[in-house]
Amino acid sequence: VDARKPAGFEDNDQHPVGHGRMLRKEDPRFVRGRGNYVDDVQLPGMLHLAILRAPVAHARLVSIDTTAAEAHPKVKAVVTGETLAGLNLAWMPTLSNDVQAVLVTDKVRFQGQEVAFVVAEDRYAARDALELIDVEYDILDPVIDVRRALEPGAPVIRDDLEGKTDNHCFDWETGDAAATEAAFARADVVVSQDIVYPRVHPAPMETCGAVADFDPVEGRLTLWSTTQAPHAHRTLYAIVAGLPEHKIRVISPDIGGGFGNKVPIYPGYVCAVVGSIVTGKPVKWMEDRSENLVSTGFARDYVMRGEIAATRDGRILAIRTNVIADHGAFNGTAAPVKYPAGFFGVFTGSYDLEAAYCHMSAVYTNKAPGGVAYACSFRITEAVYLVERIVDCLAAELAIDPVDLRMRNFIRPEQFPYTTKTGWVYDSGNYEPTMREAMRLAGYEDLRREQAGKRARGELMGIGVSFFTEAVGAGPRKHMDILGLGMADGCELRVHPTGKAVVRLSVQSQGQGHETTFAQIVGEELGIPPADIDVVHGDTDNTPFGLGTYGSRSTPVSGGAAALVARKVRDKARLIASGMLEVSADDLVWEKGSFHVAGDPGTAVTIQDIAMRAHGAGDLPDGVEGALEAQITYNPPNLTYPHGAYICVVDVDPGTAQVKVRRFVAVDDCGTRINPMIIEGQIHGGLTDGVGMALMEIIAFDEDGNCLGGSLMDYLLPTALEVPDWETGFTVTPSPHHPIGAKGVGESATVGSPPAIVNAVVDALAPFGVRHADMPLTPSRVWDAMRGQARPP
Ligand code: CDP
Repeated sequence: VDARKPAGFEDNDQHPVGHGRMLRKEDPRFVRGRGNYVDDVQLPGMLHLAILRAPVAHARLVSIDTTAAEAHPKVKAVVTGETLAGLNLAWMPTLSNDVQAVLVTDKVRFQGQEVAFVVAEDRYAARDALELIDVEYDILDPVIDVRRALEPGAPVIRDDLEGKTDNHCFDWETGDAAATEAAFARADVVVSQDIVYPRVHPAPMETCGAVADFDPVEGRLTLWSTTQAPHAHRTLYAIVAGLPEHKIRVISPDIGGGFGNKVPIYPGYVCAVVGSIVTGKPVKWMEDRSENLVSTGFARDYVMRGEIAATRDGRILAIRTNVIADHGAFNGTAAPVKYPAGFFGVFTGSYDLEAAYCHMSAVYTNKAPGGVAYACSFRITEAVYLVERIVDCLAAELAIDPVDLRMRNFIRPEQFPYTTKTGWVYDSGNYEPTMREAMRLAGYEDLRREQAGKRARGELMGIGVSFFTEAVGAGPRKHMDILGLGMADGCELRVHPTGKAVVRLSVQSQGQGHETTFAQIVGEELGIPPADIDVVHGDTDNTPFGLGTYGSRSTPVSGGAAALVARKVRDKARLIASGMLEVSADDLVWEKGSFHVAGDPGTAVTIQDIAMRAHGAGDLPDGVEGALEAQITYNPPNLTYPHGAYICVVDVDPGTAQVKVRRFVAVDDCGTRINPMIIEGQIHGGLTDGVGMALMEIIAFDEDGNCLGGSLMDYLLPTALEVPDWETGFTVTPSPHHPIGAKGVGESATVGSPPAIVNAVVDALAPFGVRHADMPLTPSRVWDAMRGQARPP
């Protein structure tokens, strides 16, 4: 393999978007072990930081004695909440307008919370010294159950907030309660189901960490950090530290998976900065696996009641839901300000309803903060799970095939753009062909016949269907901001004299192949081979401002920015070409990579010729400056709404209640497909996530608030053994407003797969009269469900 020009790049350089075999530019460095992650950063004189964490979930801090730790020969500093309070740094803002303790000053609010930190010459000494810190706690009654959190008289967790007398975090509603009530009153059939989406964790392979290097002479801070949003983080540090942004450089190098876990700002990042300021040396902090699982942003944790109203012949009239959302001890999610429940408002799914209504109460509990968008766009996973489960419950009630029920209620193609009953404007969609393609790939009718035969023999085979519509690509800025920062993204493109180019982006890849796909977009627009286009990201000193990568927003937002900035460069190239060919710019025709005179294809200049002229000797047309570059900030007019149809086949062992996912068919529609191979990889990863959530993963707590999912022995991630060979397909319904018609796709499979798998298991258990069972469907839960003993949520 030639690392400079990966195989496949020579093919179809003129039409790189959609190129079926274009390999990833970044892979030569990853497969050779030459990636550069935060923990690879080594600086002269660098010290190491370790964090002391609370062993209990709820306790008053009585005293901390750090004398013995300070006396350790390799220890350079021991910092407590009291020290930070003196610097006005004991608390920090979260990305959801709450505050979170950096180090405990008054009260421990979750097990694993940061209490103190040690900076030492090496990582081992720092860890050893933690053992020498003596902390006295006055244990308090913990609040673990969300329902109990709302009971009068429950211990108040957030007594740091002025006037707070209960554990309400926020209340939120959407839709029309009265219209929904009326639709329910008219319905022939109403089905109601309690559904829990348990607390799960994104568990990226690389845990969180940072290297902070504060230069006291220049007053400059350089922070290598595992962040999905370097610019947004920098602005927050600037506000908290009182430093101007240009004195802070946030570098987010290669990131070993983010999945939403690396969006929040964690106390550890701030501790690393303080550690560097206090010691005058660079300081590295890297979490271990348990710290990551116990203390960083979890996801989901929604207790939902879903209700659906329909006519006897299967016309869905309305959906209503009531949700209790567990946000842990601090509201540490990162949702757009106007959307405290993220995009949960899309719980009406892919169906044309008459009315919908949701009421949500979010609560504080003595658990780690979070509610992050784990591989989804701000709570869409929860919304899709709710609607796809409740629609299946209705199908069972009406004895209508679940595919048939969905097809009867799909939003029809001519209804797009479609405004949902909760106010979301779906940009485009054509659902039935996607559903039919999934049925074709799965051989749906044959599967149902096979199932009937097996049922007759007492075998437990299940077929589960889900159909989802996502909303990805936040902004526009007028509707969406995070802490006042508008959700729009910058892009800068520079074409060098030799016709090679560099494109700089505000989004941040965590493994999705941005270095390849953004080069493809620019290459498609400018006719420069992707191999000649370098993609720069993850360094605030070298990229334009923007809000970063999460919620599958890179392609919808920065993908648009990349196409438009390339078109801006092309407009300038046209003017330069008109001077070179001595014709009016209007008489020029653009054909991938060159301009020619209309009617005379032989008289042409390539983009490379133009780039040289833009920088070279000789005059340019009047009013045209030298160089060939442009910059824009793209403010997307709307979200994009990808969709997909998933069919899952499971076999349940009647003797052990073990679920085996035998087949899984996923048909996705993300509009224009830039890199089909990367899309497939994204889908495979998301489907694997889905198996984990549906069957294996849960961050549970005992009644004292001890986290029971603090290691990968307890928090079970799926491996190749648990997943089938994925069968994927696609349809293409371009986004009408995106410059190249692309919608996001990175998280579609995580969103769409859990309901397909659960629906399949419930279908397998239908002979036992099971209508619902909560995730994760471990053998014990399936066993309980088979015996009608499903535990209450
Ligand atoms: O924001 P994030 O990169 O996580 O998600 P995304 O925008 O959905 O893109 C995930 C990956 O799939 C990126 O490398 C995209 O360029 C690629 N993709 C694609 O090739 N075609 C699309 N229509 C959407 C995404």
